[in-house]
Amino acid sequence: MKKLMAANWKMYKTRAQAASYARDLVGLVGDRLPDDREILIIPPFTAITAVAEILASTPGYSVGAQNFYPAEEGAFTGEISPSMLNDLGCAYALTGHSERRHVMGEADEFVAEKTKFGLNSGLKIILCIGETIEQRKAGKVREVLERQLGIGLGGIAKSTSPDVLAIAYEPVWAIGTGEVAGPEQILEAHADVRKILSGIMDKGDRMRILYGGSVKPGNCAEIINLDNVDGVLVGGASLQAESFSQIILAGI
Ligand code: PGA
Repeated sequence: MKKLMAANWKMYKTRAQAASYARDLVGLVGDRLPDDREILIIPPFTAITAVAEILASTPGYSVGAQNFYPAEEGAFTGEISPSMLNDLGCAYALTGHSERRHVMGEADEFVAEKTKFGLNSGLKIILCIGETIEQRKAGKVREVLERQLGIGLGGIAKSTSPDVLAIAYEPVWAIGTGEVAGPEQILEAHADVRKILSGIMDKGDRMRILYGGSVKPGNCAEIINLDNVDGVLVGGASLQAESFSQIILAGI
């Protein structure tokens, strides 16, 4: 599987800013994207079309959504369905992002429902998991990962393909804080995720496990080459095309 280099823009960028970033990024990466890497841009809903229009014809690039509601259509004011995202050219969507869990209050069971519905609707899903600092200090990292993966993947077929499901390990204490997990912490957590995933899914040994949490141009080369790290999910440092292009090309 190709390493997935994903930019989560969160609630940033107008359409014009998004379009100019997409053009800049394609120019900055040029023909240097190695065959074993793919790029995913995850804009806010309002900028998806602007980005998709530019990237649709560029090999190696995909567009994703940060969120969706698990229903085909209906009376769900303010929500957006997977089929609407498919219609915009989104290939991927996130579920379980820490900000959805902790700011919007999404529980494991709802994350599971979204993961299942998104996959059944033809979206590729990146299920995000990770412990808080309190859970880490209490020695509960493995327990948290087991719970989030066990419930989060509970409703989906064991035979689900690695092409359509990836996991992002994002320790909550490392997201947007500038405090990146050290190589030992990443190796240990990713090895745990690999073991748990392989116990749940038939092809868990081949599913991609991304690292997320304060990834920057200066630390990506080390992270991306660690065992069981099959990509990165980048917030803050993905907001400038120059910085994200360096992350995309790090360590090659
Ligand atoms: P960060 O965010 O890179 O700003 O820490 C990562 C994420 O939220 O996916």
